[in-house]
Amino acid sequence: MTVESVKPPTSAAAQASQLREPPLAGGAVPLLGHGLKLVRDPLAFMSRLREHGDVVRLKLGPKTVYAVTTPALTGALALSPDFKIDGPLWESLEGLLGKEGVATANGPRHRRQRRTIQPAFRLDAIPAYGPIMEEEAHGLTTRWRPGETIDCTSESFRVAVRIAARCLLRGEYMDERAERLCNALAVVFQGMYRRMVVPLGPLYRLPLPANREFNRALADLHLLVDEIIAERRASGQKPDDLLTALLEAKDENGDPIGEQEIHDQVVAILTPGSETVASTIMWLLQVLAAHPEHADRVREEVESVTDGRPVAFEDVRKLRHTNNVVVEAMRLRPAVWILTRRAVTDTSLGGYRIPAGADIVYSPYAIQRDPHSYPDHLEFDPDRWLPERAKDVPKYAMSPFSVGNRKCPSDHFSMAQLSLITAAIATKYRFEQVAGSDDATRVGITLRPQRLLLKPVPR
Ligand code: HEM
Repeated sequence: MTVESVKPPTSAAAQASQLREPPLAGGAVPLLGHGLKLVRDPLAFMSRLREHGDVVRLKLGPKTVYAVTTPALTGALALSPDFKIDGPLWESLEGLLGKEGVATANGPRHRRQRRTIQPAFRLDAIPAYGPIMEEEAHGLTTRWRPGETIDCTSESFRVAVRIAARCLLRGEYMDERAERLCNALAVVFQGMYRRMVVPLGPLYRLPLPANREFNRALADLHLLVDEIIAERRASGQKPDDLLTALLEAKDENGDPIGEQEIHDQVVAILTPGSETVASTIMWLLQVLAAHPEHADRVREEVESVTDGRPVAFEDVRKLRHTNNVVVEAMRLRPAVWILTRRAVTDTSLGGYRIPAGADIVYSPYAIQRDPHSYPDHLEFDPDRWLPERAKDVPKYAMSPFSVGNRKCPSDHFSMAQLSLITAAIATKYRFEQVAGSDDATRVGITLRPQRLLLKPVPR
């Protein structure tokens, strides 16, 4: 059949059915397809996919998954209404963390929930969190003793949970709870990742020690959230914060939202909030230790702005190099390294056919390290974010918070705390890795160092 003989398409679906099928990525083996490669070294696997095409098909066992490999197409995917949040990553999160929170909802419920949480994250709401962020950032520098080893995993988790909980849920009681939350989240996230990449359903129900530990941690996470909600209600107070907004929220019919949704919303905000920020703080500590020349520049910049007083929230917007260090750390080690969507209709991406129901995957890690987008792509070079150079970075080649209607609501909130923490700790200390430290990348739901142990050396 020639192209001329094709009747004009009557619908998007008909149009989509006439498109090409994306090429199959190389290296598939019988039965397992690309599964083994993906499980063995997911970062390297995802980073090589662009060699095979802009959109490629992957075989994961019997299932076909589509991978998008160019910045422009990741933007098109995130912005198109033909795709929704779904797929193995989200199903696994939903099953464990709840089905009614903003991170996994779609359609009108999602829009309503975003409207409820958005005011707490707006740019003009962030300065109100400044004093807490300052206290927590400087709290780290006084907590750490010169010469003593810092376990960066627990310290980063601790400060991330405390900032999220104190700013958004206004809990003054957070120390003991922060500890519990950190422990619960660490076990839950590790277990969730395992359940996602090795989906052996019934095996995870056996009374094995690892399963019992996982179930205990998950139960404690939900219990903690119930306690936080119950305590706020018992206090009779309604401070102007995210928890009040959630407790007072109304559904599409104007009725109060149900208990389950309130619970799931708190979980859906606390869990992505602490794991992502904690992982990024770990990488910032690693960067300060590995690149003392940039740590020195951060300190010089901070001192030129503060003239020796402790760095304050208002200083952050003047700290250009500090901010560029944070952005560059996030480029090379994005906490969220993989994202998935599901096609809601027969559709297309980059001229390729994507059938309804297909799972689509892409990796911000691969996109942000792509040599097509970045000269010296593996170099840690914060100056690439100076305006005269940043203008050459292709659109969507640096979107660690994603774009479109699922964009992270917390981009300003996160960047403010990350820059402030970096400024505060680099002004007070140099960092050195100690024996037993391992800064190799550990792949889980987020990326973080295997086990980063640092010695703070006073400046
Ligand atoms: C370095 C820090 C962070 C990074 C890199 C990050 C990254 C992301 C990304 C990439 C998404 C979009 C997921 C997708 O497109 O499928 C997302 C969504 C989300 N993030 Fe963040 N995040 C960070 C911090 C936080 C914090 C601190 C909070 C809350 C306190 C938070 C709450 C959320 C929520 C609720 C969503 C779901 C939004 C929706 O589906 O409408 N994140 N985040």
